[in-house]
Amino acid sequence: MSLKRSTVKALLASQNLDREVLVKGWVRSRRGNKYVQFIAVNDGSIIHNIQIVAVSEQGKELPLIKLVWEKEIVANTGPSSEEAFKQITTGACLAIRGQLVASQGKGQAVEIQATEITVLGAADPEAYPLQKKATSLEHLRDIAHLRPRTNTFGAVLRVRHALAFAIHDYFNRNGFFYVHTPIITGSDAEGAGQMFRVTTLPPEHPPRTEDGSVDFTQDFFGKPTNLTVSGQLEGELAAMALGSIYTFGPTFRAENSNTARHLAEFWMIEPEVAFNELEENMDLAEDFLQSLVRYALEHCADDLQFLNDQYDKELLTRLSFVVDNAFQRLTYTEAVEILKSAKQRFEFPVDWGTDLQSEHERYLVEKHFKKPVILTNYPKEIKAFYMKLDDDGRTVRAMDVLFPGIGEIIGGSQREEDYTKLTTRMADMHVPADELDWYLDTRRFGTAPHAGFGLGFERLVLFVTGMSNIRDVIPFPRYPKNAAF
Ligand code: 4AD
Ligand code: MG
Repeated sequence: MSLKRSTVKALLASQNLDREVLVKGWVRSRRGNKYVQFIAVNDGSIIHNIQIVAVSEQGKELPLIKLVWEKEIVANTGPSSEEAFKQITTGACLAIRGQLVASQGKGQAVEIQATEITVLGAADPEAYPLQKKATSLEHLRDIAHLRPRTNTFGAVLRVRHALAFAIHDYFNRNGFFYVHTPIITGSDAEGAGQMFRVTTLPPEHPPRTEDGSVDFTQDFFGKPTNLTVSGQLEGELAAMALGSIYTFGPTFRAENSNTARHLAEFWMIEPEVAFNELEENMDLAEDFLQSLVRYALEHCADDLQFLNDQYDKELLTRLSFVVDNAFQRLTYTEAVEILKSAKQRFEFPVDWGTDLQSEHERYLVEKHFKKPVILTNYPKEIKAFYMKLDDDGRTVRAMDVLFPGIGEIIGGSQREEDYTKLTTRMADMHVPADELDWYLDTRRFGTAPHAGFGLGFERLVLFVTGMSNIRDVIPFPRYPKNAAF
C-alpha cells in the first residue's frame, strides 16, 4: 500500500509517533555535516516547519538521496554524502519519507528521521530570490509571484482565507443568502464616476457617430459598460425579495489614490437587509466585525502570534480590545465639534460639511475615544444618492465604521425607499435616472425600509494581520501604474 502524504500541520499535531510518514514541501533552511543533516521544511499548511533529520548510523554514510529532475532519476547518490545534501538548498521542493519521532532537540515536539529524500525541484541558490536573510516588504512586492513562500505571506494568506470563510459562515448562520452580483455593469453604483471601462472597441479608431462621439451601439454590449464599483444596487433588488442577502466579490475603482489603504481592485462584502433601519444596520456591522475578529483569534492563533511578534507588538491586544468593547456611536455633527475643539493641528481643516480625512478619522478613534467608532448622519452633499434623507433635510442616514490604524473599514446606510425623494436626489446629483430605471422599480413596487453596508475585505485583513500596507494583504495588488503579474 502506498504511503499517503501528510501535511506538516497534521504531523506537528500528531500523537501517533514511531510510524512511517511521507511529507512534501519546500526547504526553508538546511545545516549539518557529513554525519547529520537538519532540513526545515514547510508545506504551507501551517506557519511552523517540520524538522527533517538525516543521521548516519555509526560508521555509515548519510541515508540515500534520490535526485529527481523532470521525473527522471539523474543522480542516485547512495550511499550519499555531504555533497549530495548541498543540492538541497533554500526553496527546493522535497518529498521525504521517514519515521515520525519525538524530537531530541529543542524547539519542536516531533521530527522526521528521513529514510529517503527525493528532490522534486531544485532551486538554484544563485538565482532564487528568497534566501534566508530577511527581504523587505517593498522588495517582496516586486516578486509578488514568490512571496507566498515567505512566512509573512503564508500567514497573511491563511488569515485571509480564514476571514473569507468566517464571513460566509457568519451570514449562513444568520439566515443571509449569498447573491452573485455582476462584475460587468452598465451603471455607476456609487455615482462617483471612478470606473474602468469594459469595451471591445479598438482604442485607436473606435467607430464614431455623426457628431464625432464614440458609437457604443457597436460595442460588445451595445452600450458603454464598466467594471463594478459595488454590488449594492443589485444587492438591494435581491434583499427586496429574499430579505437578508450579502454579496462578496471583486470591485474596481479607478480612483488615483496612491495610499496604503487603497487598491484599484479590492474585494467587498455587502450585506443588505429588508426592514432594517440605521440602528439595526449599526448593530449588524458591529456584531459582524466582532465575530470575524473573534474567529481569527480563535482559528489563526499561530499566524497572528507570528505577525504580532514580527511586525506589531500591539496586534493581539488590539484585536482582543475590538472584540470586547462596544463601538462608540456618534453623529458626524458631534464628531465635527470634537475635531474643532481638538488640541491637535490637522493638515486639512474641519468644518461642518467637509468630508473627513483619514487624519480626522484616526484622531477620533485612536486619540479621542480610543476604540472603534461609528459615525452617522453625514451631510447629504458628501454621500451617495441612495442614502435616506433625515427629517432635517440636511443629513442622510449614513454610517461609517472607523477602526484604529485603518480609518474607514465599513461604509453603509439606510436607503431612501421613497420613490419621489430618491428621484429628486438623483436629479439634484445628476445621477442618470434612465440608466437606473430597473433600480427604481424596487421603489415603485412594494418598497420598504432597508439598509446595508460595504466592508472592504482587504481593510479587514489589514486590521487583523497588523500589516501596514494594503498591498501586502492581497496576492496580486492593483494600484496606479501597477498591474504586473
Ligand atoms: O464606502 P464605500 O464606497 O461604500 C460602498 O461602496 C457602498 N455601496 C457599500 C454599501 O453600502 N453596500 O466602500 C465600502 C468599503 C469602504 O468602507 C472601504 O473599507 C472599502 O470598501 N473600500 C476600499 N478598499 C480598498 N481600496 C479602495 N479603493 C476602497 N474603496 C472603498
Ligand atoms: Mg465610504
